Amino acid sequence: MLLDLAKSRRTVRKFKSESFPVDKIIRCIEVAREAPSGINKQPWYFLIVKDPEKKREIRRRCEKFERDLHRRVRGELKEWMERENITWRKDFLEEAPYLVMIFSDIRAPYSRESTWLAVGYFLLALEEEGLSSLTYTPPPAREIAEVVNAPRYYRLETILPVGYPKEGGRKKRRKELQEIMDFDSF
Ligand SMILES: Cc1cc2nc3c(=O)[nH]c(=O)nc-3n(C[C@H](O)[C@H](O)[C@H](O)COP(=O)(O)O)c2cc1C
Repeated sequence: MLLDLAKSRRTVRKFKSESFPVDKIIRCIEVAREAPSGINKQPWYFLIVKDPEKKREIRRRCEKFERDLHRRVRGELKEWMERENITWRKDFLEEAPYLVMIFSDIRAPYSRESTWLAVGYFLLALEEEGLSSLTYTPPPAREIAEVVNAPRYYRLETILPVGYPKEGGRKKRRKELQEIMDFDSF
């Protein structure tokens, strides 16, 4: 049931190196391609990276920026990162057997909104396949896109490392229904 999948899905940041048939990811892309999009432009692009050299280069470029970001970050975001043990190190970019880079075609109207809907579909499909992931939003999107020769009109939205979890972990608390909805008026 969809509700069960949504309830069990959670972010994983440490992965086993154990691989699996790429068909599992392709099935998830089949789900994502059914997402709705502005004037049905389907402005998303899924790039599966399995080449260790490419993964290493993507990690190197991300960490260069993350190091700087972590030096500058303050306030609520800093506290969140400390609590979650999130550092500038992005081991998951090499540890996970696959990275799925998701791009939006900026020439299409509502390209970002549409692509993120597809990301949501994709995340639930991964859960159904028994795979874990993390919605990583790298700061230097253009520099990373260059590693895989993405055309300039493709904006890198997120990189999802996909694999099996190396750690346990708990589902994060969700707001109660009455906190997020109402009828007729706020
Ligand atoms: C748009 C978006 C951007 C995110 N960016 C990052 C990120 O850059 N790094 C990271 O470690 N987690 C990132 N996350 C993961 C969130 O922190 C995580 O989804 C949230 O804490 C809820 O936890 P859950 O996914 O386990 O339910 C992102 C999630 C979303 C939806």
